[in-house]
Amino acid sequence: MSSQTVTFDTSDDAVVQCPYPHYKAMRDDAPVLELDGAMIGRSGERVFAVSRHEDVKRILHDPTTFSSQFGSSAAKPSPELRDRLREVYADGWPNVSTMLTEDPPSHTRYRRLVSMAFTPRRVSRLEPEIRRVCEELVDGFGGSPRVDFIDRFAAPLPVAAVATILQVPDTRRDDFRRWADSSVAAIGRIISDDERVGFERDIVEQQRYFVSELEARRTDPRDDFLTDLLNAELPAGDPDAGGVEGGPLDIPEMLSIIRQIQVAGSETTASLLSDLAVQLAQHPDEWEKLKADPTRAAKVVEEGLRWASPNQGLYRIVTEDTEIAGTPVPKGSTLWILYGSADHDDRVFDDPESFDPDRERLNSHIAFGHGIHFCLGAALARLEAVTAVKVLAERIDTLSVVDAESLRYGSSFILRGLEHLELDVTYR
Ligand code: HEM
Repeated sequence: MSSQTVTFDTSDDAVVQCPYPHYKAMRDDAPVLELDGAMIGRSGERVFAVSRHEDVKRILHDPTTFSSQFGSSAAKPSPELRDRLREVYADGWPNVSTMLTEDPPSHTRYRRLVSMAFTPRRVSRLEPEIRRVCEELVDGFGGSPRVDFIDRFAAPLPVAAVATILQVPDTRRDDFRRWADSSVAAIGRIISDDERVGFERDIVEQQRYFVSELEARRTDPRDDFLTDLLNAELPAGDPDAGGVEGGPLDIPEMLSIIRQIQVAGSETTASLLSDLAVQLAQHPDEWEKLKADPTRAAKVVEEGLRWASPNQGLYRIVTEDTEIAGTPVPKGSTLWILYGSADHDDRVFDDPESFDPDRERLNSHIAFGHGIHFCLGAALARLEAVTAVKVLAERIDTLSVVDAESLRYGSSFILRGLEHLELDVTYR
């Protein structure tokens, strides 16, 4: 196939449902493929999709040539929508570009400050609570032979995990779930202006809630993430701060970071959990091995991350004329970095479309990215998924997908995940 004949059309449902043969054609014949920017909400920009593992990794490793200042990952608003959004934000706080969409030294400052609050200790301490939530969710199946898995398990678990980190009380959990849904709704999807305005209203409601929580901690500090975020400062001479120093985050910065953690941590992990459930249901031998030996959960999750790559693609902006895999790419272009394709690259993974937790190079996937923007929540996502898989294997004897032919992935070209998943289960 010549590079002229390779296409990638995100509005084609067949591509959305199974992009993998298209990714392969791109990797083999057009590893840097120019696309119509409008198709992925980047009208007026020259957009190139980068599909090979080697190229994606190199780009992620070079934040100087490939900047993360790509702005919002939602489609760009029209001038009229911008006015309407400005009105909504009159009651709230402006969204500030923080970690994901910043380059050093600004990225270094945010990442260091947030890491002081989002510590490995704080994440690992969540294990008993995550196990409790997993068990409670399985109890909530009520012994039913048919389970709506996303609604009853995959979606609520990550929201509960992030809500626990943010210390959202039980009485506000339903609100928090609604806010989380609204926060991700516009990401990688073309939605109507009215929908966008409605979602942003929810986000302002969330902002007002967190501002009062942060203010409460000024006078009444606690041993929690929000207190540490509020008090984080970079002392002069910190060897890990890359020469950056400075005072605490302001309210809009903290709100933006809270939202980023919530957005990055909810739908991605839910998609991982639902794709894992499908793979385990469709590989009964794997499921039996897991039940017999729960320590396999870590390997199963790692392969699930590679196979599913719930964050299928994000952007970088090219800061100088350059060349990628022999294709000239001019300064100012947008790159669409396809983690999902990189993780199915047969130059790195043998038989990449198969689900094989015992495969060689299991850990070479880049589902969490690579380099300075490597997923801040990777340890939390792994903890949630490993605990979930273990609890499911302890409690459930057999599982199968109801009507596997009708499984459908949502239309986001950034976050890839099943829309709905029903499982038939028997209990142990
Ligand atoms: C299976 C679940 C997850 C996947 C597949 C995933 C994937 C990713 C990827 C690919 C990146 C890199 C983006 C880039 O290169 O620009 C990233 C960054 C990030 N993730 Fe995750 N993520 C997951 C879960 C989480 C969780 C649970 C949290 C937090 C609670 C989180 C918070 C973040 C943040 C804050 C960043 C930005 C880091 C930075 O720019 O320095 N993610 N994630």
